[in-house]
Amino acid sequence: MEINVMAGPGTHGTGAEVRGIDLGRPVATDEKAALNRAFVEHGVLAIRDQKLAPPQVLAAVELFGTVFQQHNTRFALPDCPQIHYLSNQDSFPDGRRYIPGEGWHTDHSNDTRPPKATVLHAVTLPDRGGDTQFADMAAAHDALPAKTRDRIADLLGIHVYQSSHSARKLMALSDANRERVPNAVLHPIARTHPESGRKSIYINPIRIEGILGMDHKEALPLLDELLEHATQERFQYRHQWKPGDLVIWDNRRLLHKANGDYDMSQTRYLYRVMLQGDVPR
Ligand SMILES: [Fe+2]
Repeated sequence: MEINVMAGPGTHGTGAEVRGIDLGRPVATDEKAALNRAFVEHGVLAIRDQKLAPPQVLAAVELFGTVFQQHNTRFALPDCPQIHYLSNQDSFPDGRRYIPGEGWHTDHSNDTRPPKATVLHAVTLPDRGGDTQFADMAAAHDALPAKTRDRIADLLGIHVYQSSHSARKLMALSDANRERVPNAVLHPIARTHPESGRKSIYINPIRIEGILGMDHKEALPLLDELLEHATQERFQYRHQWKPGDLVIWDNRRLLHKANGDYDMSQTRYLYRVMLQGDVPR
């Protein structure tokens, strides 16, 4: 097995490519440990050339943790409901095409224990386009002016299923799903990674409704300023998908975003699994 850091203008060691391992077969203990170390160190692992059926995807993902129950079960695979799918072939009830994941976000931050990682496995890809962008919120936190770091150090963000400030609308939850999804949770705006000890900016434009105890007139510009800072190209790794890629990323440290910039007559279909995380601190 070979692990190589991705080269790029702004990657700061974010993103690594893994070759020479077949996750459809048993993985040795030392390789499992190396994969987990690389995951924490680089934030994104692109494990190349995998061809995994849904149960093998679950086994591969469990090398990194315990599977998390995703919120909107309308996207669950009928035969393997712990796996959801991402597809560009779904529409909103009014007929508009639904492109999952457009706009910067982190997954399910409206959970009391948001998923530590998300995994996508490419099943069908368009000929070109559809990259996933990642912003390294730990590097972005390190690069903040000291004054801003102090200002956000003790702030708590209010996370809901769908922020009223978000330009991007999510697919509505069914009543049964809504019952097990919290109305609102509080998470630190600057969170500390439980494994690396590094601080990251933890914001989510599609789910943050506000900052606890702060007027919207102050909170919304601050959130905008943090997002604009953190999503500069110098903090990004941009993943160009190849058939067979299994990509796992660390939600405790990264924002991500899909791009609907490809030929929509072509199908883009990926499996998605998440891993259980801790309460952000
Ligand atoms: Fe996402």
